[in-house]
Amino acid sequence: MTTSAARIETVWETKLPLPLVGRGKVRDIYAVGGDRLLIVTTDRLSAFDVVLPDPIPFKGKVLTQISVFWFDHLKSIVPNHLITAEVDEMNLPAEVKEKFGSLLEGRSMLVRRAQPLSVECVIRGYLTGSGWKDYLKTGATSGHKLPAGLQQCQKLSKPIFTPATKAVTGHDENISFEETVSRIGEGTARKVEALSLGLYERGRDYAETKGILIADTKFEFGLIKNEIVLIDEALTPDSSRFWPKEGYGPGRDQPSFDKQIVRNYLLTLTWNQKPPGPKLPAEVIEKTSRAYREIYRRLTGKEVV
Ligand SMILES: Nc1ncnc2c1ncn2[C@@H]1O[C@H](COP(=O)(O)OP(=O)(O)OP(=O)(O)O)[C@@H](O)[C@H]1O
Ligand SMILES: [Mg+2]
Repeated sequence: MTTSAARIETVWETKLPLPLVGRGKVRDIYAVGGDRLLIVTTDRLSAFDVVLPDPIPFKGKVLTQISVFWFDHLKSIVPNHLITAEVDEMNLPAEVKEKFGSLLEGRSMLVRRAQPLSVECVIRGYLTGSGWKDYLKTGATSGHKLPAGLQQCQKLSKPIFTPATKAVTGHDENISFEETVSRIGEGTARKVEALSLGLYERGRDYAETKGILIADTKFEFGLIKNEIVLIDEALTPDSSRFWPKEGYGPGRDQPSFDKQIVRNYLLTLTWNQKPPGPKLPAEVIEKTSRAYREIYRRLTGKEVV
């Protein structure tokens, strides 16, 4: 379950004596009672929607601790699912706490279980990725008509809401606002659009003071007793594109803090982007791990523990 690479403990997969609700690409999710979940963030890394065979040291801890940081920072905008990230406060069964407490510490969250909305709320503040491709082809991004002559990675005058479906397997797909309305209803669609824009803007402004540009991000919301709640993760390097502010300039690709290091390496291979994913060289793993930790350090001023 845990492996030791260069004396650093990594967590690839957990097997806790609790009912397993699911294993995502990155998280192992367990039920705790009827209305709570224990979300354990492993060190798995997925790129192009394929889980790669090598764990990235500290990644699960960084994702968890960044989310915890943002849930607190953003809680006045919308309630979130986090109950606690302190293992001592989770009231876990003794057999779980005693045997797995140290593994869980720093990489797990006890949360309120929600009914996830079937739409991912993507916000783009800069023109990149599929938004840029869409714009090049059509002059618009997910139905938002944009001015002519914008450059790659240019900051948009206002961030835009470009929802996507949560694909069960494979790649998420951009959908129109109308399709969003048909999935979750017009009232909820308008609410999550406004909430996502508010969350993004608050996070973007804070991150910028720490030398990080958040180019785009994805939020997930769920319903708990008819209330809209922010769930999953928040403004992490897995759910967002983070660029260093220094040296930013439109008209070209941006150097990236995070997974882009892995993506760039993978693009040098002749891999067809289908499972199984290729092994990563030690220096790519190390560089990626350092990048994740650097983001946490910049955002919070603390070291990940
Ligand atoms: N409070 C919550 N209640 C119910 N489900 C949640 C909650 N928070 C997160 N989830 C779900 O837990 C899962 C997180 O797992 P993970 O991030 O590993 O999945 P993923 O690889 O991103 O995508 P997929 O969900 O497609 O496997 C997501 O499906 C998310 O919707
Ligand atoms: Mg996820």
